[in-house]
Amino acid sequence: MSDVAVETHDIVRTFRDGEVRALDGVSLSVPAGRVFGLLGPNGSGKTTMVRILSTILRPTSGRAIVAGYDVVKQPEKVRPRIGLAGQYATVDENLTGFENLRMVGMLNHLNKPYVVAKSRQLLEDFDLTDAANRITKTYSGGMRRRLDLAAALVGAPPILFLDEPTTGLDPQSRQELWTIIERLVEGGTTVLLTTQYLEEADRLAHHLVVLDRGRIIAEGTSAQLKAQMGATVLEFGFATTDAAASAVPLLADLSATPANVEGHNLEITVDDGPAITADALRRLDEAGLRPTGLTLREPSLDDVFLALTGHRAEDEALDGAAPVAATRRRSR
Ligand SMILES: Nc1ncnc2c1ncn2[C@@H]1O[C@H](COP(=O)(O)OP(=O)(O)O)[C@@H](O)[C@H]1O
Ligand SMILES: [Mg+2]
Repeated sequence: MSDVAVETHDIVRTFRDGEVRALDGVSLSVPAGRVFGLLGPNGSGKTTMVRILSTILRPTSGRAIVAGYDVVKQPEKVRPRIGLAGQYATVDENLTGFENLRMVGMLNHLNKPYVVAKSRQLLEDFDLTDAANRITKTYSGGMRRRLDLAAALVGAPPILFLDEPTTGLDPQSRQELWTIIERLVEGGTTVLLTTQYLEEADRLAHHLVVLDRGRIIAEGTSAQLKAQMGATVLEFGFATTDAAASAVPLLADLSATPANVEGHNLEITVDDGPAITADALRRLDEAGLRPTGLTLREPSLDDVFLALTGHRAEDEALDGAAPVAATRRRSR
């Protein structure tokens, strides 16, 4: 395979006679052997992109090349080279873990001894050996998701699409899946991962594209995205909401992005944490405003999303950009 595992050019996909533009001109270039993150809130077009890349859905316009083949013109060449696992585990509840994997292998016309050996190996790798002969119905959510991922790997595809692989999982199962994904990539697999968890993208993805309403709104490494908005977040606590609100105009010009108030707290994002902290405290002191708390931290990708779009990643119901000093839900 070449250096580029997946390439899309200006993909548009509409639904309902063009009323819904799920993807509105998305071009991606996914390097081989790495984790590429497609990050965005609910409804931003992530699943639509994954379905197009895995030949389930045709684009309305634009081109997509996966493993060197056009997804529309050569889907039969693409399919054996990809694996797909996602938020909704597709395992058959009435089969055992082993039977599920064997069935996938048979459906893909792989030879039987290979399938049996590969299935055993995957069950072992994903810590499912003890449960291999149990009906999947009895599996926990985390076990199902691991089995689903194993099923996507029976054919040893070089490219893996993971559509929100950890959504709905408890923190421990999420950690386990992250470790599995990291191991796969160390073994040379290319992973295109969609997620609405900024922490997940931060942890796994070498390169990120941020989608909002079917369009790319930012792209780069997570460090680059963070650098774009300043190096440090300063969070001031105040005794009253009035005090927090009256601090906004005093500090607004220090912030690389709009200042953020929620209740008693005020957040600004700055390039030079220590120097600006001193300046900010002096200004507040001169105005007779004494903060009750002060925290310095690195911006999360969640902060990045807010800075780029004016809304939090979880606030997909909010339409339009929020104004300066927008009130928002607490997300940490
Ligand atoms: N089959 C469909 N029919 C109509 N609208 C759809 C269909 N699939 C997706 N959409 C719409 O396209 C947009 C993007 O959806 P989707 O790709 O599922 O987003 P995500 O996976 O990021 O949550 C949403 O507005 C969704 O309602
Ligand atoms: Mg989705």
